[in-house]
Amino acid sequence: MNKQLTYIHQLKNHISSEVNLAGWVYNVRNSGSLVFIECRDGSGICQCVVNKEEVSEESWLAAVSLKQESSIRLHGLVVADERSIGGVELQVQRVEILQLVTEYPITPKEHGIEFLMNRRHLWLRSQRQWAAMRVRNGIIFAIHNFFQSRGFIQTDTPIFTPNAAEGSTTLFETDFFEEKAYLAQTGQLYGEALAMAHGLIYTFGPTFRAEKSKTRRHLSEFWMIEPEMAFYDLEMNMDLAEDMLKSIVADILTNYSQELSLLERDTSSLQRLVEKDFVRIKYDDSVDILTSEKTALLLDELIQQRESEKEKLGQEQTTIQKEHGSAKKWRKKQIEKRVIDIISRIDQIEEDLRNIPKWKKSAQEFTWGADFGGSDETVLTMQYDVPVMVTHWPAEIKAFYMKRDATDTYALGVDILAPEGYGEIVGGSQREDNLEVILARIEQEGLDPKTFEWYTDLRRFGSVPHAGFGLGLERTVAWICGLNHVRETIAFPRMLGRITP
Ligand code: 4AD
Ligand code: MG
Repeated sequence: MNKQLTYIHQLKNHISSEVNLAGWVYNVRNSGSLVFIECRDGSGICQCVVNKEEVSEESWLAAVSLKQESSIRLHGLVVADERSIGGVELQVQRVEILQLVTEYPITPKEHGIEFLMNRRHLWLRSQRQWAAMRVRNGIIFAIHNFFQSRGFIQTDTPIFTPNAAEGSTTLFETDFFEEKAYLAQTGQLYGEALAMAHGLIYTFGPTFRAEKSKTRRHLSEFWMIEPEMAFYDLEMNMDLAEDMLKSIVADILTNYSQELSLLERDTSSLQRLVEKDFVRIKYDDSVDILTSEKTALLLDELIQQRESEKEKLGQEQTTIQKEHGSAKKWRKKQIEKRVIDIISRIDQIEEDLRNIPKWKKSAQEFTWGADFGGSDETVLTMQYDVPVMVTHWPAEIKAFYMKRDATDTYALGVDILAPEGYGEIVGGSQREDNLEVILARIEQEGLDPKTFEWYTDLRRFGSVPHAGFGLGLERTVAWICGLNHVRETIAFPRMLGRITP
């Protein structure tokens, strides 16, 4: 074989040519004189057909011995085939085994999440995980594109830091040559210094929070994108964040439709938000919405909707299971797959049915001055079909660096809540730019003024109004991919109870 490799995603350009593929057996089926290999090479999956009559005995014996995840080289002719994945098929002329695998631990049947998480290093090869990592890559690229095209420069900020910036309760402490240091919760404070040097900057790096929350939105190690802009106020900050999110989503819809469809993402809500204005609402008004009669009724309706969906699914399950006994082999398979989907949807509905009454209680009893919990965010965003930007938060519950309004009651902060229950994906604010005020805030928070000396210098030497925000990468990936949990949005998640693999 000549050694030049062709990648599966390019096969469309090689119809009627002979090519070399190298990859892994995703699935294999043997029907007497034909072996159908679904070969994956990282760039995609291609059906490769080995015909006993057309290959050497050596190749044929290799083909029939293949099992899932065996590594192989194939040589063959590319033909167009409408029915195949990617519209092409390889008519195999030679099969070479690099390694024969006999028992790959992850099979196409259903596995529990702990089983899969413990085998994350292998699970990454599965189609859905593959698709999610590709969309993540696309989002990262779209973010860089957005900022670079607007004249922002990317700057990097330290991971070892001497101080807390986002509350002292979520710090990971480390020993930095016998000095206490913490893993960065944010790059923002350094970003502010860099904005005073470059005007428009963004950081893109890992951040760490020792949050003891085991939720579908929390990681201990996550990636954050933090733009910081000199001479921006809250509104300019919000305009930028809205433009950024629209631009990311539009980019992914255009370039990653195949991955989104593998993830079975219903993209209608993503399409909508590209064209519509985001909702902008003050904290006080969102509290009124949460506690309103209308919201209570909406949640009651939701319960009814879920119950009737559950009943319909139950009926469908009974009907197709009756059909199963006498069904043809292909139909049996179809029924089995549908039953798995129905069961998992019913599980989800039952979870919702347990949760919605709690959401209702939490929303109805919400008191002014509290921070939104995950369910409050869900209940609020449920009422709109675009992201919701909540501004003017009670200053007490926001970080020390946020500028306050004239009444000193509200912080000029903004949280952006993603639709469909994904919750807060962006937190940002206009920054306090007055030296005396920021010094007082540092003292009130019980922070050590010495470690903030350099930071307050930014208010001593050419202070200007400025603003910025932080976008959580994993929450953004979860939302755009429609994934239920952030643990599937990063290759090797770090979270409470999970440090391996
Ligand atoms: O709202 P946060 O805490 O804001 C900051 O850190 C600011 N310094 C940002 C800035 O103004 N430059 O975090 C920003 C975003 C959240 O909206 C969320 O998307 C994500 O970071 N995030 C997390 N993602 C996963 N796991 C966690 N534990 C997260 N904590 C925050
Ligand atoms: Mg926040």
